[in-house]
Amino acid sequence: MSEVLVEVRDLAKTFEVSAPWLNRVIERKPRQFVHAVDGVSFSIRRGKTLALVGESGCGKSTVARLLVGLYPATRGVVNFDGQDMGQQLRFKSGAALRRRVQMIFQDPYASLNSRWKVQDIVAEPLREHGLLGEGEDVRARVGGLLSAVGLSPADCVKFPHQFSGGQRQRISIARALASKPDFLVCDEPTSALDVSVQAQVLNIMKDLQRDHGLTYLFISHNLAVVRHVADDVGVMYLGRLVEQADKRTLFARPRHPYTRMLLDAIPDIHMTGRARTPVQGEVPNPLHPPSGCSFNPRCPLAQERCRRERPALLESEGSWVACHAVQEGRG
Ligand SMILES: Nc1ncnc2c1ncn2[C@@H]1O[C@H](COP(=O)(O)OP(=O)(O)OP(=O)(O)O)[C@@H](O)[C@H]1O
Ligand SMILES: [Mg+2]
Repeated sequence: MSEVLVEVRDLAKTFEVSAPWLNRVIERKPRQFVHAVDGVSFSIRRGKTLALVGESGCGKSTVARLLVGLYPATRGVVNFDGQDMGQQLRFKSGAALRRRVQMIFQDPYASLNSRWKVQDIVAEPLREHGLLGEGEDVRARVGGLLSAVGLSPADCVKFPHQFSGGQRQRISIARALASKPDFLVCDEPTSALDVSVQAQVLNIMKDLQRDHGLTYLFISHNLAVVRHVADDVGVMYLGRLVEQADKRTLFARPRHPYTRMLLDAIPDIHMTGRARTPVQGEVPNPLHPPSGCSFNPRCPLAQERCRRERPALLESEGSWVACHAVQEGRG
């Protein structure tokens, strides 16, 4: 069995965001495209967590949706346990794959059907994938899943509006676990929750990972959360990966100027007296990304070459970095 469960190669997704045809003709406007994800490659080891970080709009949710098959890819391959996922999902045999890959969404208010009782919400994947034995008590099965996420089996007769945000997110996790998946894609699962509840939910997710050998893709813009949950970290900027490394290396020795900028902005909770530098500048308009390295307008190390030539993601002292300055030894 290979150590890698999920392998993504040159994944890309382009959205057309043009004005309606008639407006375009009258106003003589060209068609417009957003390259939301533009050639991303990474792999996730079995039983481990890869965290993707980056500012709003850099393409994190698009990667998540591509991985679970909610969007077809414009280019590239997602390999899940040795199978080409894009191909598999088109066939009937894709149902087996769908059972093994589940997603948890950011907003626990919008992602649960408010008219259904918790029992029906959590049991849906069981029914969908035919995982209930003949005459098996659904209630007992759902009760077990609710206990696993720290809720009471008695909660199964309630409706989502009778729960707090943190409890709702636990229901989402119970539902995702129902089909006994191997891989969970978690898109900002705790960012709608307050800090203490965030910690509880993250700890439950860690315990479940340990007990069931789950593999996670964990998306967050909060580096403190990433530090808590990740094994490996990928930093995205405008649809591309700019740095990837194991967590310890990335936090101890960030290489890309963008990663350094993100880390500098973390509040100094240990009160070492380190000056805190806020993130400088703004993400450019994704409809008209800068030429060369897309980070160059905000980069303190930018030179002529950075404005002209897009840097490739290359290995350098244990990290993968896409930066001319680092590769030339100026970073
Ligand atoms: N369905 C869509 N149609 C058109 N453009 C889209 C669509 N989904 C995403 N985009 C665009 O793709 C880019 C990446 O969006 P995405 O939602 O993946 O970012 P994100 O990193 O998840 O941001 P956030 O942190 O705010 O959730 C954005 O510029 C967004 O406007
Ligand atoms: Mg998002």
